[in-house]
Amino acid sequence: MTPATTFVGSPVSRVDGPAKVTGAAVYAADFDIPHLAHASIVQARVPAGRIAAIDTRAAEAAPGVLAVMTHETTRRLPWHPRDPRPGVDPKAGERLHVLQDDVVRYDGQPVALVVAQSEEQARAAADLVRVDYAPTAARTRFDVAYARAPSEATAKAGRPGDTSRGDPEGAFAQAPVRVDVPFVQPREQHAAIEPHATIAAWDEDGRLTLWDKSQWVDNVRTEIAHVFGLAEDRIRVISPFVGGAFGSGLRTWPHVTLAALAAERVGRPVRLALTRRQLFTNTGFRPHTESRVRLGAFPDGRLTAILHEATGQTSTYEEYAETTLTPARQLYACPNVATRYRLLDMNVNTPSPMRGPGAATGELFLETAMDELAHALGMNPLELRRANLAKTDPDSGKPWSSNALAACWDQAAARFGWADRPRTDEARRAGRERIGSGMASAFYPAHRAKARARVTLYANGGAMIQAATSDMGPGTYTALSQVAADALGLPLEQVRVEIGDSALPPAPAHGGSITMATLGNAVANACAALRETLGADGEGDLTPALRRSGRDSAAAEGASSPGKEAQEYESAAFGAVFAEVRVDPELGTVRVARLVGGYDVGRVVNPKLARSQCIGGMVQGIGMALSEEAVFDRHCGRVMNANLSDYLVPVCADVGALEAFFVESDDRVFNPLGVKGLAEIALCGVAAAIVNAVYDATGLRMREVPVTPERIVTAQAARGR
Ligand code: MOS
Repeated sequence: MTPATTFVGSPVSRVDGPAKVTGAAVYAADFDIPHLAHASIVQARVPAGRIAAIDTRAAEAAPGVLAVMTHETTRRLPWHPRDPRPGVDPKAGERLHVLQDDVVRYDGQPVALVVAQSEEQARAAADLVRVDYAPTAARTRFDVAYARAPSEATAKAGRPGDTSRGDPEGAFAQAPVRVDVPFVQPREQHAAIEPHATIAAWDEDGRLTLWDKSQWVDNVRTEIAHVFGLAEDRIRVISPFVGGAFGSGLRTWPHVTLAALAAERVGRPVRLALTRRQLFTNTGFRPHTESRVRLGAFPDGRLTAILHEATGQTSTYEEYAETTLTPARQLYACPNVATRYRLLDMNVNTPSPMRGPGAATGELFLETAMDELAHALGMNPLELRRANLAKTDPDSGKPWSSNALAACWDQAAARFGWADRPRTDEARRAGRERIGSGMASAFYPAHRAKARARVTLYANGGAMIQAATSDMGPGTYTALSQVAADALGLPLEQVRVEIGDSALPPAPAHGGSITMATLGNAVANACAALRETLGADGEGDLTPALRRSGRDSAAAEGASSPGKEAQEYESAAFGAVFAEVRVDPELGTVRVARLVGGYDVGRVVNPKLARSQCIGGMVQGIGMALSEEAVFDRHCGRVMNANLSDYLVPVCADVGALEAFFVESDDRVFNPLGVKGLAEIALCGVAAAIVNAVYDATGLRMREVPVTPERIVTAQAARGR
């Protein structure tokens, strides 16, 4: 019998909200560990070369300094390889071995570490470390001529070099209407509010505790166990709150190893908090990616050919690859499709997933090209999408477990007023501004993984849910509370959720939008198991059954993992985004006046938090379209704007009216809870809709984001010539 759903589906407020706004929520850098010392990283100042000499004398003599660690004075670690590698790690290459040799692989690489009594002393002394470099040739310019095919390991992980179905080149050559669209998306940074930080503490028995900003505490534990050659049960990783991450917390970055090394060296707990500048090169980023989309269509809009090529950057030591070309293969019905993916090794730190990894980039390319095709056809861009709805997954031929994309298009268009958008030049003018409207589809594959959760019910009517998952902001605490409250028949405030600790039942990465489809079902199963243990069936408050058993408390665990539906069906979240922009042609400024997004994400556990996620994705999409770019100087190989006053994320004044809503959707084929996941989809399509709206307003085809005032003005001047 399915339990009543009092809380699942209700717009309850964040259960951790009061803790967050009162400061009671403790983030990685905030833990008050006695006898804490502080570490500060010294970063390489060349993109490639060797350390010729390193002079630490002035730093060692500075006030409060406990140790200065370099490759010459740091012990060699075993760096055991991991097999299989975690899903979030590159499939080829080798992680950065910090302070193990004299090789500089990118500007910003840690080359020394200063440990001191206070953070200020550590930072001041870090500035005194003198490093002389013997530079070598570096690849710091993005040049597709040097790109290469991905390795077999990467191809097997869903990032193949070349794919083809049908006769793409032939169909394109014969297509009555064709477009050929190049596009550039620059390096982007996660830019979360909370910087990454790690506190490392060893006990007398050689056990290590890490308080770390992480989206995956189990992965940090396993990674550090392999790096240090320790048994996993010697390490505990604690990360109860994460102040935004967007993917930067999926991997275990080198500073975690540095913190543990430093704590070992000085025999005290050590805190290593990255500065905002250091975040740009000591955690990942969305890689610079260049694309070419060729589309061929019949006059009625039906696609006959999609050819999508993309080249992404990776580091010289690891092969990070994205699923940039998945949308080209899966989003629209088309018999002739070819994709070609290439990688360019550069002297940069390794990129990493950033919200909507692969898909958000691929859909920026594909959906702007679809807009160009619509204009080449003389067709309404929305009608072009409708003419190409994929009723089954066009790549595998499998049925969708659910697909309400058509409803997203229809309902979002209606709410936006697409049919009545300004169409004439006069209607598009508002004073000196030009009004433009644009749209795009959104698509993100849905997955789930293996997880366990524990429930403990107490005779006083309280319950505890425990799992090693995280909450980087989407509302895991709240959503798991809702699932448990329903399954146990308890008021929401009687349920406590404990997460973010590797001592709890294992969970996969809090990423890829899989958390609710994975943990939500594990929690429901744990509660069902407890109900069975207590001999209670049906629904309603489980506490009386516990009291009848005479016990003070009872606990059960539940698991969840993908079933045969994962083989038989394709699952994905879908959406449609509509944008209205105001462009000042003289100043080149673009304001996003309105965004409307309709989403098919399966069952919505909490409409309030789900809407927050979606409008958050819209804000990030405004950044992607208009302002965000980590400017990489190709002469010195350095990120030139590694701070939040020059790397521009949207502020309130950049954001117009945002409307996000959910179409009716409930995917019980995909999983019993019926959720598909909605973190990544919220960014997908947003930037494309905005870029398409800029064209509608100005007639300018911008083929590079961010669409800055300089680029608009330059494009206008080029058109005027
Ligand atoms: Mo998301 S890029 O999987 O945190």
